[in-house]
Amino acid sequence: MHLTAAYRCSGFARAAPVWAAVRSRSLAVAAAADGSPPGGGSSDAGSGTRVALVQGSSRGLGLEFVRQLVERPNTRVVATCRSPAAAEQLQALRLQHAGRLDIVQLDSTDESSIARAAEQVAALTQHLDLLINATGILHDSSMAPETALARVTMDSLLKCFQVNAAGHILVAKHFAPLLINAAKLNGATDERPAVLANLSARVGSIGDNRLGGWHSYRASKSACNQLTKCAALEFERRKQKVAAIVLHPGTVDTDLSKPFQKNVPPEKLFSRERAVRQLLAIVDRTSMRENGRFFDWKGQEVEW
Ligand SMILES: NC(=O)c1ccc[n+]([C@@H]2O[C@H](COP(=O)([O-])OP(=O)(O)OC[C@H]3O[C@@H](n4cnc5c(N)ncnc54)[C@H](OP(=O)(O)O)[C@@H]3O)[C@@H](O)[C@H]2O)c1
Repeated sequence: MHLTAAYRCSGFARAAPVWAAVRSRSLAVAAAADGSPPGGGSSDAGSGTRVALVQGSSRGLGLEFVRQLVERPNTRVVATCRSPAAAEQLQALRLQHAGRLDIVQLDSTDESSIARAAEQVAALTQHLDLLINATGILHDSSMAPETALARVTMDSLLKCFQVNAAGHILVAKHFAPLLINAAKLNGATDERPAVLANLSARVGSIGDNRLGGWHSYRASKSACNQLTKCAALEFERRKQKVAAIVLHPGTVDTDLSKPFQKNVPPEKLFSRERAVRQLLAIVDRTSMRENGRFFDWKGQEVEW
C-alpha cells in the first residue's frame, strides 16, 4: 500500500508495473519506461553522480536542503516525508526537476515505514553519498517545551525521543548499506566519505546547558548526539568510509522556531536559505577526521 503511494508521489506511478516486473535500479531507466524525461544517466552506480537523501523534506530545513541539493550539477536527490501528497512545495520542486528528484514516503516514527522506504530507495540507487536527517519536533498542538520540571510528561518525552532521536538512528540503520556502498561504487574515500548528517541542536549539549528547561527536547537531542557517535565509531572500527556528524543549524526561521523568535535578534535568526548554505558548506568539507563530531553552523565544534 505504501509502496503504491510512494510510486504515485515519486512520479513513477505509471511506471509501477514495469518497475515491479524488472526491479530496475536505475532512476533513468524507470523514468524512460514511463515516457517521462530520463534522469540523465543509465545508472548511478560508478557514474560519479552523487545521490543525496533528505529525510523530513516536507518543509523547513529539510525542504531547503532538497531545493539547494537538486540545483547542484551531477546530483540526484531522494526526498522523504511522511505525507508526500500534502507536501505541495516538494511536489512542485519534483515537477521542476523531473528525473532528478524522487519523493518516497517515510515516517521516521515507524520502523516498518523506514524499512519499506529503504527497499524502495535501494531499487532506485545502489549508493547514497549523503543522508540528512532533518525531521524534528519541539512543539505541537498538544505539547510545548517545558519551562519547569513539573511540566515534564511521558507524552512529551516519548514524542521528542521518537522524532528527534529514534527516527534519525533507525533511518541510519536501514540506509547504512547504501552509504557504505558509496566507497565501493562511487569513489568515497577517507578524504571524501559518504556523510550521514543528523540535525540536532546546541541545546542537546549537556556541557553547554546553563539555562535548563526544554527538558524533553534537550534530552532527545542529547540522545541523538550519543546515537550518532555510536554509529560513527562503528563506521570507523569497520573502516567504512562513512562520516556521521551532528549539526546545529543556529536559530532558523521555520515553523519549529516560530513561537520563540520574539527575543532573537534579527542577525541571529537565519533564513532557511542561509542556514542550509552554511550547513552544506560543512558537509562538503567533511572527511573521516570529522566523523563522530558535533558542529554548529559556523563549523565550530560543540561540546557534548
Ligand atoms: N529551526 C530552528 O531554529 C532549529 C534550531 C536548532 C535545531 N533545529 C533542528 O533542525 C531540524 C529541522 O527543523 P526545522 O526547523 O526545519 O523544523 P520544521 O520546519 O518544524 O520541520 C519539521 C520536520 O519534521 C517533521 N516532523 C515533525 N513532527 C513529526 C512527527 N511527529 N513525526 C514525523 N515527522 C515529523 C515534519 O514533517 P511534517 O511536515 O510531516 O509534519 C517536518 O518535515 C530539526 O531536527 C530541529 O530540531 C532547528
